[in-house]
Amino acid sequence: MNQLEMKKQAAQAALQYVKFDTIVGVGSGSTVNCFIEALGTIKDKIKGAVAASKASEELLKQQGIEVFNANEVSSLDIYVDGADEINPQKMMIKGGGAALTREKIVAALAKKFICIVDESKQVAVLGSTFALPVEVIPMARSQVARKLVSLGGSPEYRENVITDNGNVILDVYNFKIMNPVEMEKELNNVAGVVTNGIFALRGADIVIVGTANGAKIID
Ligand code: 5RP
Repeated sequence: MNQLEMKKQAAQAALQYVKFDTIVGVGSGSTVNCFIEALGTIKDKIKGAVAASKASEELLKQQGIEVFNANEVSSLDIYVDGADEINPQKMMIKGGGAALTREKIVAALAKKFICIVDESKQVAVLGSTFALPVEVIPMARSQVARKLVSLGGSPEYRENVITDNGNVILDVYNFKIMNPVEMEKELNNVAGVVTNGIFALRGADIVIVGTANGAKIID
């Protein structure tokens, strides 16, 4: 089974958590694209969705699903999103698709965060395989990069990428994140950082892993 098939399995299995007549929080990325396609098959069962990126918003509309603005809802029953890495404590690195800020905002609205991944995303320590994305106000790019170096990382400017919020991304290599909660807080406090890609303060509640032997649910 290839990676895409594993992503599809995880996405399909997430449908069981979608409740009747609710608004579903939807993240972004290729695994979420599979989820949006699956959600289209039960679109009459739901009220609509809140999207974490313009790309997801577009795909949801193509499926005939009504998209609500995050300001229009006070809470969501579930938020479904992928991850670049996930550890056994259900903490994640996200932002490979540069949508981390809106993902954190929509995730914060939800009672349950359901993370859908293929098995390649599971790691013991965050930062082992994937650089940590950090969304930065453009005028603060160099000073934030210097701060990240002082913390032991090797930041690289993601060329030709502007986020949905008009900011830039620094990808931080060589960061082994031993204490994700503390690191997330520390990076949040750096002037010029909009959002960092550690999702530990609010991690996932349920993880669905697409594997060669089917979808595995970690509750
Ligand atoms: C986008 C994200 C995605 O959830 C993450 O990059 C995983 O993407 P994919 O499902 O394509 O592997 O955080 O900002």
